[in-house]
Amino acid sequence: MKKKATSKSIPPARPFIYKNRTLLCDSVPLSSLAEQYGTPLYVYSATQISERFQLFQQAFQDRPHTVCYAVKANPSLAILRLLGRQGAGFDIVSGGELERVRRAHKPALKKVVFSGVGKQAWEIDAALKAGILQFNIESEQELGLVAARAQALKVRARFALRVNPDVFAETHPYISTGLSEHKFGIDIKIARAIYRRAAKSKWLEPYGVSVHIGSQIRKVDPFASALERVTSLVAELRRDGHNIRTIDAGGGLGIDYSDAPFDPAHQVERYTAALAKGLANETAHLLLEPGRFLVAQAGALLTRVVVIKKNGSKTFVITDAAMNDLIRPALYHAHHEIIPVRQSSSKGTITADVVGPVCESGDFFARDRAIAQVRPGDLVAILDAGAYGMSLSSNYNSRPRPAEVLVEGKKVSLARRRETMRDQLAPEVL
Ligand code: LLP
Repeated sequence: MKKKATSKSIPPARPFIYKNRTLLCDSVPLSSLAEQYGTPLYVYSATQISERFQLFQQAFQDRPHTVCYAVKANPSLAILRLLGRQGAGFDIVSGGELERVRRAHKPALKKVVFSGVGKQAWEIDAALKAGILQFNIESEQELGLVAARAQALKVRARFALRVNPDVFAETHPYISTGLSEHKFGIDIKIARAIYRRAAKSKWLEPYGVSVHIGSQIRKVDPFASALERVTSLVAELRRDGHNIRTIDAGGGLGIDYSDAPFDPAHQVERYTAALAKGLANETAHLLLEPGRFLVAQAGALLTRVVVIKKNGSKTFVITDAAMNDLIRPALYHAHHEIIPVRQSSSKGTITADVVGPVCESGDFFARDRAIAQVRPGDLVAILDAGAYGMSLSSNYNSRPRPAEVLVEGKKVSLARRRETMRDQLAPEVL
């Protein structure tokens, strides 16, 4: 990765840097983006998304692999197209995400893996017709449904069982998935019997084994442990006569949301080594499903301070963005760095809650945080918002969802215009 000039408070892991006290995304001042597109605004660096994708591509270049970007992290068509054109496959969890891949980059349909615990017949049909690579199956009942739909359409469905390896991923409980107490996956101990039964159907092709143990995982050992279990299952399945071609290692590689220095290349190296350890001599085609790692740090939510309010001893910085735009702090108590777009020379800070205008006490971006001194009208950037930001946004409080722009060097392109009231009301009937 290219080294960029960075100020002390912003690690090089992010494409947002100060030049002459003005915050830029790549080479574009965020103040000019706010001027042109309004706020709140999601700003993404296409440069960084490509760099992160290429980090993965290079790290795994010695083995046959496909990086299937997890669409749920950020389903923007512009981002899907950017990655699809560079050779990415996609991990989808709904018929809606399948349709997005089709619109963004049709040739990538054959590199799609379909995950998710409640696939419905219409979604399975759409995926079969699209000729996706494989279904990641979450239960024997679901496998039965896929077989029935494949028979109805007279095609063969390639499948992998998503096994639950009973490995603790050491992450937030809401985004940990690899323990037997979670709803995800099939107990690895009964997987072999299911492959045996499935192999009898001429509509099902046992094709791979998949695993996903959770998200925002910072230690890489759990990935190795999970893959070790998968690899020994694959060996057993081969002995049983199944031609297993793929191992899907899932997603989950974490980033650093704090202002500590973070080296993404090093993180990918550690991850690659852990997977290699888990895979031992296994040479199956490796599928990877990173979401957050590719897009989180490429994005910021740009927002304007509306008012600064004091209540007793507390100071509230109220912005024009709210929990409906970025729910991670409210939902997971997630930390996001918040920095001013114009750096003042005074270096003064205030301790404040940074909150939105939504009618909920949970509507906050930061609590009791020392942030740069800001005034009403100032712009601030909420960092690391490229993953699970816009994709978890809503119209709560009848707020229009923000616009999104993609920056590449000096070039800016609108990826999604700001919603209008008309957009919001369109499906309603009176
Ligand atoms: N594959 C599967 C089957 C998944 O369920 C997920 C994420 C991924 C891949 C991508 O994981 P990633 O590389 O992004 O960690 N909303 C939460 C994260 C939920 C993750 C859900 N599954 C957050 O904002 O932290």
